[in-house]
Amino acid sequence: MAEQMWGGRFEKSTDEMINEFQASIGFDKRMYREDVAGSIAHAKMLAKCGIISEEDKEAIIQGLHDILLQIEEGEFDFSVDLEDIHMNIEKRLTESIGEAGGRLHTARSRNDQVALDTHMYVRRRTVEVMEAICNLQQALAETAAKNREVVMPGYTHLQRAQPILFAHHLLAYFGMLARDFERFRGVYRRADIMPLGAGALAGTTFPIDREFVAAHLDFEQIYGNSLDAVSDRDYIMEFLAAASILMVHLSRLSEETILWCSREFSFVELDDAHCTGSSMMPQKKNPDVSELVRGKTGRVIGHLMAMLTTVKGLPLAYNKDLQEDKEGIFDAIDTVKFSLEVYARLVRGMKVKQDVMKRAVTEDFSNATDLADYLVKKGLPFRQAHAVSGQAVHDCLARGIYLQDMTLEEYQRLSPLFDRDIYDAISPETCVKNRNSLGGTSYEQVQRQLSAARKLLDSEQKLQQELAEKQIKV
Ligand code: ARG
Repeated sequence: MAEQMWGGRFEKSTDEMINEFQASIGFDKRMYREDVAGSIAHAKMLAKCGIISEEDKEAIIQGLHDILLQIEEGEFDFSVDLEDIHMNIEKRLTESIGEAGGRLHTARSRNDQVALDTHMYVRRRTVEVMEAICNLQQALAETAAKNREVVMPGYTHLQRAQPILFAHHLLAYFGMLARDFERFRGVYRRADIMPLGAGALAGTTFPIDREFVAAHLDFEQIYGNSLDAVSDRDYIMEFLAAASILMVHLSRLSEETILWCSREFSFVELDDAHCTGSSMMPQKKNPDVSELVRGKTGRVIGHLMAMLTTVKGLPLAYNKDLQEDKEGIFDAIDTVKFSLEVYARLVRGMKVKQDVMKRAVTEDFSNATDLADYLVKKGLPFRQAHAVSGQAVHDCLARGIYLQDMTLEEYQRLSPLFDRDIYDAISPETCVKNRNSLGGTSYEQVQRQLSAARKLLDSEQKLQQELAEKQIKV
């Protein structure tokens, strides 16, 4: 018999290199809290159902608490020979409390145990991600509110298109993050399903009580099929999908931040404390944070691809391939949370260069649509108005002036519908003010968006706190 916990049918111990290759303790040890909490719930259930004695249960719980303490104080020696967090803890438990420790794994397999731990871990960390989303949303809303009058060019094709409010631009990201928050709420729901009791794959011969475990660990639902419970990783794929979408949002914001703080745009200046310099070029102040967030987006998307590909061809039920779920999801959680937190700081420290933005909409033709709309309001069909406005732009370009520099006579030569009020109609402020359609960039609409944003944030934060309170504290 080999010395491993499952060594009974083996004549030899595992080859050392193989051991190292298949061990997951290097990364799954971060689920130690979940593993302990899950085992305590399991032990309580076993005792309640008369499968183990009360004394054994007490010894197990005490032993697990001691182990938890040891791990937290850095005094636990994790062993690669014991493969993973589950066997590391169980082995130590048995060493310290004896036979009772050996009863803990009754009616349980590592297959449902690892599924339980990972569900709880993803659930807990999802709430942290939700909190970090709220925090960035708050930073965006505050910055928008502080700069609610600032006008900037809005772009399409990265060409100046129409004047918009800077606050409107920031609130666009607020909206994306609000949907990200909801997506993570969905992830939470799918992680909130309790797999323990599935055994290795088929359930167990013992009279267990899965409802008890679920209630004890605050799970909303229980897997209704044992094969499903141990085989699927869809909640992980969903987390990674939600994380990828979120990172794509942050990456676009990063790209814009990088552009905005370039000398060419110069719309914002980042806080010195949030930038880095160059070891060679003394003048440099680089937006590394934004670049890194943009860069890290690739790796989160990579984790999603890896997970989908890993599970794609797997037969039911558990296969060791599934152990590959962990490093990707762990890294994605860390990356997403850190990126959100860092970005909230960056946004809060951002100096908005109102005058530069103003110049960019003044020395520009982004009011050409408004010129056309002016004529439409005086009765000209839009297509013709578009042509007149285009002609005006063409003439201005040839002369090196802007629309607001043309005289009224010049305008009237283009169309008799022009009057003195054209100058007000094409001022950037009027262009903004007039876009008062629902969700538009007008001051009024942006004010509405801000109020809605505050309300939404309140309810998001309330929900997030409710969920945070449900997470196990062992
Ligand atoms: N470390 C394993 C994992 O992360 C735990 C489950 C192992 N189960 C087994 N039968 N080998 O997936």
